[in-house]
Amino acid sequence: MNVHDSQKLAGILEHEGYVKASSASRADVILLNTCSIREKAVEKVFSELGRLRALKRSRPELILGVCGCVAQQEGRELFARAPFVDFVMGPRAIGSLASTLSRIREGKSGARRSVDTEYRDDSIEFPVDRIRREGECVAKAFVTVLEGCNHRCTYCVVPMTRGREVCRDMDDVLAEVRQLVGRGTLEVEFLGQTVNAYRDARGRTLADLLRASAEIEGLRRIRFTTSHPAQMTDALMDAMAAAGPTVCPYLHLPVQSGSSTVLRAMRRGHDRDAYLRKIEGLRRRMPGLALGTDFIVGFPSETEKDFDETMSLLDEVRFDTVYSFAYSARPGTAALSLGDRLTPEEKRARLGRLQSRQREIQEQNNRAWIGRDVEVLVEGLDKREGAKWTGRTPENRVVHFAGSSAPGRIEPVRVLAATAYSLQGEPTGTFA
Ligand code: 5AD
Ligand code: SF4
Repeated sequence: MNVHDSQKLAGILEHEGYVKASSASRADVILLNTCSIREKAVEKVFSELGRLRALKRSRPELILGVCGCVAQQEGRELFARAPFVDFVMGPRAIGSLASTLSRIREGKSGARRSVDTEYRDDSIEFPVDRIRREGECVAKAFVTVLEGCNHRCTYCVVPMTRGREVCRDMDDVLAEVRQLVGRGTLEVEFLGQTVNAYRDARGRTLADLLRASAEIEGLRRIRFTTSHPAQMTDALMDAMAAAGPTVCPYLHLPVQSGSSTVLRAMRRGHDRDAYLRKIEGLRRRMPGLALGTDFIVGFPSETEKDFDETMSLLDEVRFDTVYSFAYSARPGTAALSLGDRLTPEEKRARLGRLQSRQREIQEQNNRAWIGRDVEVLVEGLDKREGAKWTGRTPENRVVHFAGSSAPGRIEPVRVLAATAYSLQGEPTGTFA
């Protein structure tokens, strides 16, 4: 979502006649799009600002803006730590970027040091043509369908930084997808903090959106992220299963912990059993479904026994992808009052145990693909892999292969080897 927000910010600049500078030192405008999900991300922003301070000192006319969730969270406070910043703009206020920039350039009083942290809906009604879809692969595009979050997980800043849910009209979303397909997009990824909570003003849900977009001729792959377990309804599972192969057999369904006690303290709205029932319902309908999840390790009340339940969940579900994070106490969240009880070493040790077990599981899962033929949407060349082509299967597995290809091609590949993180193969030239 942050990458896509940056594409929107860049698109606004382009629309205003700006062109991309060859380096920061030559830029007239520098925007930092920021994340505040964990302390480390916020630290990164301030160290980057530290680097930009000298540049700003040598060229005071440079316009330096801080956007994104750190901007939203810090508001005017940001000037106290970084007085050389010109403006602060939250993620739902990006619709005012053009006017803020022109007011600064016209020297309007108060334009420098302005703060816009309003939750406006024009961030979601964003002019489609104005998104600068830069990235590795021309064939893939993000499409926002929902912004904000109505949950209140006790560790999370998102409801504060991004505000309450707003959903786009389904017809607008479909029009954007058709437009993208017309320009050669093969894969769309619908975005929302809780994308499966999607329901537009006319009551149309993600299930309806999947059904309708699966009918769009020329569209080969549909993904959506991130889904919340509590909103993973039977109707949505049915729609996923029935929509056909265009809806990719991959689901990112963050669980956060394997312990029901911790899940309650996190106010997740599901316990371990409820989560497992969702997984069971998904796999019953879609036996080949690949699953990804997120875990937070070291939540303040997490005991050794709670953590063991997280470990046992890994074995019970055997996820294909896991993102795991050490708990980070965030300002303004309910969990802040619980303190940050585990030491960094304790969190790191648990994280290490989780990641090493998961690595074994993933390697086993991936090795089961050796000898099979897969369909790879090619994203580009991977230099670290000896300039091999890299892309993803419908299940979201990364595949590397040598031979002739091009970004945006869908290539048949036979899997010859596997690690915990990717598959290696050779192109077969034809689909079986
Ligand atoms: N500390 C650590 N991880 C967090 N996440 C969200 N808030 C925190 C926090 N305070 C993780 C969750 C979420 C992912 C995007 O980031 O696992 O799913
Ligand atoms: Fe944060 Fe919970 Fe909302 Fe996800 S569902 S964005 S973790 S509050």
